[in-house]
Amino acid sequence: MSSTPAITAPTSDLAPAASPPPAHVAIIMDGNGRWAQARGLPRIAGHRAGARAVRRTIEAALTHKVGWLTLYAFSSENWRRPRDEVSDLTALLRHYIKNEIAELAANGVRLRFIGEAGRFAADIQASLAEAERMTATNARLNLTIALSYGGRAEIIAAARLIACAVASGEIDPSELDEAAFARRLFTAGMPDPDLIIRTSGERRLSNFLLWQAAYAELIFLNVLWPDFGAAHFAEALADYASRERRFGARPA
Ligand code: FPP
Repeated sequence: MSSTPAITAPTSDLAPAASPPPAHVAIIMDGNGRWAQARGLPRIAGHRAGARAVRRTIEAALTHKVGWLTLYAFSSENWRRPRDEVSDLTALLRHYIKNEIAELAANGVRLRFIGEAGRFAADIQASLAEAERMTATNARLNLTIALSYGGRAEIIAAARLIACAVASGEIDPSELDEAAFARRLFTAGMPDPDLIIRTSGERRLSNFLLWQAAYAELIFLNVLWPDFGAAHFAEALADYASRERRFGARPA
């Protein structure tokens, strides 16, 4: 009996085509609490260390010439944490914006905030608006910080805008398409993320960029966010580069 010939092909034909570098990297920064707990420290110490990791990550994005970086810093659900932790996190945010904005601006970083900013104290809302205004002409790195952000709330808000536009006759329902919907999201004008990284070993999106994540590559790292640094960023980019993105199409 003749044996069935093995189906072989030169390795080069089987190797997936490397993806170009991601234009947009989004990160779910998770594990601050566990980092602090492992050291017998209060949770706020983990968040402070997390803010230092944010600095390192921005530097890494600049080094790798990633044009868009989006960080999930505070979810809609985070308001349900104990009052002390919410107040520590908002104080850290206030401190961060005040102390980092000049350096970010000098490095060509454009800041945007997505989420329900109206839920923060008036002085924080004012400093977020000021940071966006001060950096509006920068283009080296588009840094978006998601604050009081939830993907479902964002989709509902867009649906509400569409409903109003239909009611006023501005849009005919038959003309509504994905682009028209995306223009009403908090992320209007931003490219979709190519790569979403989540730290801490958890493997879920937790209401982050639900619409925008449709074709994102997902990378889950077993590192707690405060320990995240340039090497992890580079490792994620290398993993991304080895993936073949097909956007639902069959390979040629
Ligand atoms: C998730 O870890 C992290 C947060 C809810 C807050 C993220 C905040 C920062 C990284 C610092 C501040 C950032 C800026 C931009 C100023 P967790 O507390 O849920 O950790 P756990 O799952 O281990 O408890």
